[in-house]
Amino acid sequence: MAPSAAFRLLSVSGCLLLLCGTSWASNGTVPLVIWHGMGDSCCNPLSMGAIKKMVEQEVSGIYVLSLMIGKSVFEDTENGFLMDVNKQVSFVCDQLAKDPKLKEGYNAMGFSQGAQFLRAVAQRCPDPPMRNLISVGGQHQGVYGLPRCPGESSHICDWIRKQLNSGAYTDAVQKHLVQAQYWHDPLNDDLYKKYSLFLADINQERVVNETYKKNLMSLNKFVMVKFLQDSIVDPVDSEWFGFYKAGQAEELETLQESPIYKEDRLGLAAMDSAGKLVFLASEGDHLQFTREWFNENLLSYLL
Ligand SMILES: *[C@@H]1O[C@H](CO)[C@@H](O)[C@H](O)[C@H]1NC(C)=O
Ligand SMILES: *[C@@H]1O[C@H](CO)[C@@H](O)[C@H](O)[C@H]1NC(C)=O
Repeated sequence: MAPSAAFRLLSVSGCLLLLCGTSWASNGTVPLVIWHGMGDSCCNPLSMGAIKKMVEQEVSGIYVLSLMIGKSVFEDTENGFLMDVNKQVSFVCDQLAKDPKLKEGYNAMGFSQGAQFLRAVAQRCPDPPMRNLISVGGQHQGVYGLPRCPGESSHICDWIRKQLNSGAYTDAVQKHLVQAQYWHDPLNDDLYKKYSLFLADINQERVVNETYKKNLMSLNKFVMVKFLQDSIVDPVDSEWFGFYKAGQAEELETLQESPIYKEDRLGLAAMDSAGKLVFLASEGDHLQFTREWFNENLLSYLL
């Protein structure tokens, strides 16, 4: 038997034993979809471009799709501030459904706000199936402050703060400012629940959508990375799905102490019992990690 035929036979039986029925691509790799954070874009060679390249080096043959929201890198960056998040999520769902390379399933890795947006994709768009969701500094209970957004002297950050202070839950601000859609004001919990167009919806604050619950629970793993010296996200606990207790802005509660978990409105308690939630901590500021840390802690979820 020629070596190539032997190899083919081996991979066919390997397929029967191990791969068939799972969502692995024919060459054994699971595609990866990544979604960048605020102020960033799909293709910056210093951020998402570098992550894509690193993953391609570590996992030979992998297909990595770095999402571009809009028609150009410029639009992509701008949309990260100004495009209605629900529309961004629909845009991505369409794109993923049309990509033949993803039809057997994919892993997803979101950076900062891109992480909560990818969670919405998992909850709303089960086809193609997401396997592991890796949230890198995502804010699953939103933010109540952007202390160093993303640079201290940036005009856009001042403008964002002004909008949020003028009325984060007014229709005009909700519809036109991305960060307002995950603004979570614990002093105005009722307003947040009623008017937050994105976060309160995906966190089931108004109704429990059983579809959201079922879809999230079908993830293999939901990995959340928190940056211990994060100076951009307030409160940092949101990166592990914790937040301020409602009614004040000092005392924090963990995911496990919160109503969303205790009432299991989103299936997170069930996922926790099933060992599907992974909480990782990284030393350093927002999105700062080394390749060694990445390989040691996250790489195994991409295989
Ligand atoms: C592996 O499969 C994926 C998905 O079909 C494809 O994009 C990628 O190019 C393949 N890699 C190799 C080395 O054949
Ligand atoms: C629940 O979510 C699904 C998927 O996004 C949606 O089609 C449906 O309309 C939602 N149901 C309710 C009651 O919001």
